[in-house]
Amino acid sequence: MQADLLVTGFLFHKGRVLEGGIAVVDGKIWKVGKESTLPKADQTLKTRKLVLPGLIDMHVHLRDMELSHKEDYFTGTCAAVAGGFTTVVDMPNTVPYTDTAGKLKEKMEVAKGKIVCNVGFYCGFPRDLNEVDEINRHALGFKVYTYRSEEEWDPQSIASLVEASRGVVCFHCETPAKKPEPSFFDVDAISALHTENSELEAIKHVLSSVKKSVHICHVSTPASVMVCSGRATCEATPHHLLLSKEDARRIGVIAHVLPPLRNEPERLLRLLSEGRIDVIASDHAPHALEEKEQLAPGFPGLETTLPLMLTLVNDGFLSLRRLVSCLSSNPARILGLENKGEVEEGKDADLTIVDLKAEHVIDASRFYSKAKFSPFDGRKCVGKPYATIIGGEVRMENGELFVKKGCGSVVTP
Ligand code: DOR
Ligand code: ZN
Ligand code: ZN
Repeated sequence: MQADLLVTGFLFHKGRVLEGGIAVVDGKIWKVGKESTLPKADQTLKTRKLVLPGLIDMHVHLRDMELSHKEDYFTGTCAAVAGGFTTVVDMPNTVPYTDTAGKLKEKMEVAKGKIVCNVGFYCGFPRDLNEVDEINRHALGFKVYTYRSEEEWDPQSIASLVEASRGVVCFHCETPAKKPEPSFFDVDAISALHTENSELEAIKHVLSSVKKSVHICHVSTPASVMVCSGRATCEATPHHLLLSKEDARRIGVIAHVLPPLRNEPERLLRLLSEGRIDVIASDHAPHALEEKEQLAPGFPGLETTLPLMLTLVNDGFLSLRRLVSCLSSNPARILGLENKGEVEEGKDADLTIVDLKAEHVIDASRFYSKAKFSPFDGRKCVGKPYATIIGGEVRMENGELFVKKGCGSVVTP
């Protein structure tokens, strides 16, 4: 039998790197092995590069609908594919807010016609807990913002949601009691409002409210990581791993993000290399530049995350094994995506091929994201995505996208 696609290179397979190939049939990995043992294929992609399981970003804001001026499903997923991601999971803080089964399904319907990679969705804290069963059928999980409403802080209602959810429940952890936001970018005022302690207290509060493991988003300090240990999975962003409060002062409002950048990010990075952080996620949060100037928090991350993390591999701060765990296998496991996260026969043919030695400079003006700015703009990196293969289709090669609006798939549980 002839395969649809044959990919060769240095495969990341069962925790090791081996030279060989992957034969793909019907969007699935059919055979993995030495090139000489593999069948012929209609299409071949012969590289001498590293072939990783498709990367999964479990924390992105694709926006669209009434926030389409910031990003839409097409531009956001183009940014994902360009950045080497095969699957992303979209957050519910959209306009309209995603907090009913109806609005969730509407969003998925709109996305279907525009996405170019695999996209799963989280639902926000449901307006009606009776809808959780229905939401469970469509969403990969829920996202709770502990500071957002009384319900989202209430231990009983948190417990009920976690109990009823069949997917992962993710938390943005901050205590609710707060003064108004400052009206201009003042690093000290913002840190005083969004303190390390407020994050830690909120995590402890969530963990003491639930009986099952949950997922804590964008931890920004070592204390937050340590309190999750054995009780919850946790995620860190490239910016909290690589940028400090001092960097925020130097870069200015472009670097404004919540949680804010902290002192000594290298301590968080050490915990990542020690295997104490489960997931690396971009928290891709695009805004219009005018909105940034008005203190909108966040910035795009889909096109910078992989180069930044590969640079850490080259610099010896992160092993390739940990990179693959945090960007593919662990997110797949946490999201319950059994057919993703490994290069193995029978799994989906989602692959990210990287050029580990490519030296380049991040240029935000060339992003596919509508948000063409980044606190990492101008940063030198070593390593970048070379090709993105989704369901056996080459969607990006050597920086060029091969996508049609709507060629992506909505991922359901
Ligand atoms: O910086 C952030 N941006 N933090 C959040 O919690 C929300 C996000 C956004 O949606 O823009
Ligand atoms: Zn958040
Ligand atoms: Zn977010």
